[in-house]
Amino acid sequence: MKQTINWQQRWTDNSIRFHEGKVNKFLANYIDQFALNPAATIFFPLCGKSYDMQWCIDRGYKVIGVELSEIAVQDFISESKIGFEKHSTDSFNIYRSEHITLYQGDYMGLTAADLEGCQLVFDRAAIIAIEAFNRRSYVEQLISIIPKSTPILMISREYDQRSRSGPPFSVPLSEIQQLFSPSYLCRVLEDEQLSGADGLQVLQRALIIS
Ligand SMILES: C[S@@+](CC[C@H](N)C(=O)[O-])C[C@H]1O[C@@H](n2cnc3c(N)ncnc32)[C@H](O)[C@@H]1O
Repeated sequence: MKQTINWQQRWTDNSIRFHEGKVNKFLANYIDQFALNPAATIFFPLCGKSYDMQWCIDRGYKVIGVELSEIAVQDFISESKIGFEKHSTDSFNIYRSEHITLYQGDYMGLTAADLEGCQLVFDRAAIIAIEAFNRRSYVEQLISIIPKSTPILMISREYDQRSRSGPPFSVPLSEIQQLFSPSYLCRVLEDEQLSGADGLQVLQRALIIS
């Protein structure tokens, strides 16, 4: 995916304020709504080194993540203390262990075969990390690689984009609905009002897309 944001550089500079370092509260609060099988597979697009993946593994789920930055993947591997086997293809370095597979490379290179059996997508800071001109490609790719009718738990943000450049970008509900239409419908689970240090009002939203 062609991007103007240099994510590799952000990881090199350790400029990763998006990294929560603990489980995302919406994931923890809403995962039961999906009535997943005990060993269900959850896909984390643009996963960074999110602790959410470890949290899901600790609960018996299987995890698939894709991340551009080798630094992020190596950080996750060393922090998780899981032993991984590595192999490489034309598109990815692939790190595999019993409960998790991490694809290091461009999300656009994933195929449906890579996500076979996936039962939930958790999009936290993924669609809102993508510039507007790329969001349709991001969503079309997602819909084309996940098994049909796989639900998506998405955490989005909405604010006056004129006040801040992003990322995270403001991605209004109407845009999300349009991007996923007509295959999917969006249902808002929760809206949370956040106030930035600069006084900017940000609406954080948890939604199910199914
Ligand atoms: C805002 S961060 C969110 C990371 C993670 N979801 C979290 O909640 O901490 C966005 C991540 O997307 C990764 N990324 C950006 N473009 C990508 C691409 N085309 N393929 C895979 N990963 C990408 C970046 O390196 C960065 O780690």
